[in-house]
Amino acid sequence: MMKKRVLSGVQPTGNLHIGNYLGAIRNWVEIQKSYENYFCVVDLHAITVPYNRDTLAENTYTIAGLYLACGIDPQYSTIFVQSHVRAHTELTWILNCVTPINWLEGMIQFKEKAIKQGENVSVGLLDYPVLMAADILLYDADEVPVGEDQKQHLELTRDIAIRVNNLFGSKDNPIFKVPEPLIRKEGARVMSLTDGTKKMSKSDPSDYSRINLLDSPDDIRRKIKRCKTDSIMGLSFSEDRPECNNLLSLYALFTGKSKEEVAAECANMGWGQFKPLLADAIIASLEPIQNRYKEIMKDRGYLDKLLQEGREKAEAVANATLKRVKSAFGFLPL
Ligand code: TRP
Repeated sequence: MMKKRVLSGVQPTGNLHIGNYLGAIRNWVEIQKSYENYFCVVDLHAITVPYNRDTLAENTYTIAGLYLACGIDPQYSTIFVQSHVRAHTELTWILNCVTPINWLEGMIQFKEKAIKQGENVSVGLLDYPVLMAADILLYDADEVPVGEDQKQHLELTRDIAIRVNNLFGSKDNPIFKVPEPLIRKEGARVMSLTDGTKKMSKSDPSDYSRINLLDSPDDIRRKIKRCKTDSIMGLSFSEDRPECNNLLSLYALFTGKSKEEVAAECANMGWGQFKPLLADAIIASLEPIQNRYKEIMKDRGYLDKLLQEGREKAEAVANATLKRVKSAFGFLPL
């Protein structure tokens, strides 16, 4: 039987945090043997907001290195850099011309980022979801494992695919495969350590709001010590205790214990007793990832070779799709 294909990506904007790991990469690692996988570092997405050109290339290495350190295995998964495969930008242009502008103006993430940025919002930021649709549709992905926050972008991708199929394809000859989201409930939403009602985010100005995959044990202890809690006696998973919910969930995810086990274990604990346990669990889980990461980053030659091989494999698939699309849209063939 043919394996189903998945594609996903992470932006090379600085460090990854445990929300990215638990909500995305860890799940990719778990399923990689039963799928044909494409994981890209989406550097073209990273330039849709003001960015630092001096760190873009290094951050691209960092994400590729973290993919490997977290357990993405090149034997099962193709790792590549988005900007290395030209078909991504070319398909984006073509999709731009069939995507109604108001579909993009309604995107939650665009509106949030645009408000944050104020005046100088780029065309690229508005177009971000079309580039993401191109990423996915180029590979005929069956499923797209993403965090909860990307659900709307995935729906847009499906809408674009269906629209193109209706406009230029036929029932027996669809142009695009319409992808399904693969969103795991557990761990899909890790919340900020300073506000349990907000998602943990790379762009939060306070580093105390998140735990980065490359944080030292001291950093992790300090952040857990300072994180927001409440003053209710005993710890419990309850709707009206967002911080407590988040921290207990993290404890369950990092120890591999079930929610029920954690609820029982922590029912009579206070924060002073619980916090060191949580910090220890996080440190123990991140340590092997950090050690592997350090090893990988010492050998840039290996990383370059891996990304080159990844590019070649990705290109073969992407170029074939692009050719099919251009032919369906009526372009004069090369
Ligand atoms: N927008 C995604 C995010 O910020 C990253 C992304 C870009 C992506 N292209 C993709 C995810 C294609 C899945 C598939 O998380």
